[in-house]
Amino acid sequence: MRAVDIIIKKRDGGELTKEEIDFFIQGYTRGDIPDYQAAAWAMAVLLKGMTPQETTDLTLAMIASGDRLDLSQVVPIAVDKHSTGGVGDKTTLVVEPLVSACGLPVGKMSGRGLGFTGGTLDKMESIPGFNCHLSEEQFMRQLKEVGVVLAGQTAELAPADGKLYALRDVTGTVESIPLIASSIMSKKLAAGAQAIVLDVKTGLGAFMRDLEGARSLAHLMVDIARLAGRKAVALLSDMNQPLGFAVGNALEVKEAIATLHGGGPADFREHCLKVAEQLLILGGVAADEAAARPLLASALADGRAWERFRDLVRAQGGDLAYVDDPARLPRAALIETVPAPRSGYLAGIHARVVGETAVILGAGREKKGAPIDHAVGIEIHHKVGEFVEQGSPLFTIHANDPDRLVEAGKRLLEAHTWSDEAVEPLPLFYGVVR
Ligand code: URA
Repeated sequence: MRAVDIIIKKRDGGELTKEEIDFFIQGYTRGDIPDYQAAAWAMAVLLKGMTPQETTDLTLAMIASGDRLDLSQVVPIAVDKHSTGGVGDKTTLVVEPLVSACGLPVGKMSGRGLGFTGGTLDKMESIPGFNCHLSEEQFMRQLKEVGVVLAGQTAELAPADGKLYALRDVTGTVESIPLIASSIMSKKLAAGAQAIVLDVKTGLGAFMRDLEGARSLAHLMVDIARLAGRKAVALLSDMNQPLGFAVGNALEVKEAIATLHGGGPADFREHCLKVAEQLLILGGVAADEAAARPLLASALADGRAWERFRDLVRAQGGDLAYVDDPARLPRAALIETVPAPRSGYLAGIHARVVGETAVILGAGREKKGAPIDHAVGIEIHHKVGEFVEQGSPLFTIHANDPDRLVEAGKRLLEAHTWSDEAVEPLPLFYGVVR
């Protein structure tokens, strides 16, 4: 078999066999197939697509490229959640301890920011001392003893995805439904998840801009889980405007802490509760949403979810003084609130522009592996559909560089669009795929 023939077959719209996919992924992981051939192949897949069978074979080949965790020794059922990536998406910081506080242990491997989307590990590292680099043994031990873990993907799990993902990021081949589905599911399945809640984002600030694409991605991932003998549910959620108000690492940690204390923005709180409900149902703790909701509400109200977050921070070396007093978390030198330039209904807050602006401020990376500034970011003060009076606070920029502050201000003003007529608020969700 030759890599070039497999590339040509896909380029011409052919369906690859399991043997061809295994050959390609194994060869690429070992380094026998070079990046330029893998890039050409990824582009052919992006342009010609893959059948569900090919996508499942690709997922299995990527799982087989590395270790697999068997969590059945440490928890009765291993549950996991995954977001396809968004702006202001700090859901894991709330949902993980909340679900764990309801008696369902959660061990999660998360990622770093990607493009204009934020990453859970970057957010948690705003807390001084917090260590995301756990070995597989440490991960399993903490899951058993503490019931909550939040770590980075180890290099041993689905290494083919790690390599291919980095290549796709710089070759314009991220936005392919089969490549995204196999990338996400190979990581989740290799990490031992038996039940997975997928938060599939759609809209301006998501990789899947349109609802139909997001729905296809959701169906494909749920099907892959089923074929692999696992359970999955996908929520289709809105990502046209940022989730909650805060975008930027320490700012998002503060917002998650406020939510764990029972406050936080209404849209973000509700989003977390909906994701957490599905985890409790898949994990067998609640029969349905109506049974799950009071369990979650009481874990928030009586402080158990918050205590579980503290357990997580403590177990991974984070300094509790910073989460107990979030005002101590990294703070930018320049904080400027920009007033609304006019009165009117907010018609849009372009999530992708907000995410890109956060990256310009330093909250994300423009180059792989670059350091980030945990303090900087953006707080929006309104959501789509609200009426805003001219001169009232519209957004606040947290910056450490005066030029970037000015540029962010311009971009964020353009990100807000207005209407004289009443505008419907955006929905939080567009449906559930089971
Ligand atoms: N998240 C992933 O893990 N992989 C993708 O391909 C896209 C988003």
